[in-house]
Amino acid sequence: RGDRPMAGRRVLVTAGGTVERLDPVRYITNDSSGKMGFALAETARDWGADVTLVCARTDGPPPAGVRVVRAESAEEMRDAVMSRLPELDAVVKAAAVADYRPAVRHPSKMKKGSETLTLELVKTPDILQQIGEWKRTREPGGKAPFVVGFAAETDDVERHAMEKLARKGCDLIAANDVSAEGAGFGADTNIVNVYGAEGLVEAIPQSAKRSVAERLWRLVALRAGWDWT
Ligand code: C5P
Repeated sequence: RGDRPMAGRRVLVTAGGTVERLDPVRYITNDSSGKMGFALAETARDWGADVTLVCARTDGPPPAGVRVVRAESAEEMRDAVMSRLPELDAVVKAAAVADYRPAVRHPSKMKKGSETLTLELVKTPDILQQIGEWKRTREPGGKAPFVVGFAAETDDVERHAMEKLARKGCDLIAANDVSAEGAGFGADTNIVNVYGAEGLVEAIPQSAKRSVAERLWRLVALRAGWDWT
């Protein structure tokens, strides 16, 4: 395998912030830049994997040499990810998926009217949780990808990460404190603690997102039992 330790592996990475539309020109989104997902996709590409990058709104274009699937909203992202699960070796969900979307998507631009306007929001599907449910209910012995979630937290990082790992049924959670300097949204570096069912698995100090991505893929390979050398 040499310098292409992921040759033959099929992986899917999600990146960016989802866009939840209110009308044709207005939407709700978040500050995710997509940089962490891009770094994960680039690393896997350079290491020989077949990479699908499911991309929501990002700062800048996605990397070359990967299969890019556009998914604007949480629901589009859910469809893009779920339909590909059976063929994948790993899924890393680095996207910041909106938790709520406007209940109504107006077909034409909303007009200004009353002094106040109340927006009703409804929950979006939790994609990571649906992947976990799919894994639990699939046929025994069937192929299923190794699944990594991300958790952007501002407080009580470990408790929230472990709670998400259990609830969403993923194999690893990469948690970062987005309120820390040099971590999270828009930054070129990240500080990540990776949790598995047994607790903290790896503490990655402040590093370029590319180095974080390399350490994460090595960890995935180790835990998924991939032949690496
Ligand atoms: O938003 P939250 O902290 O719950 O996100 C943790 C993980 O769950 C991330 O990997 C994110 O991509 C995923 N997620 C998802 N669908 C949602 C919300 C979050 O897949 N609706």
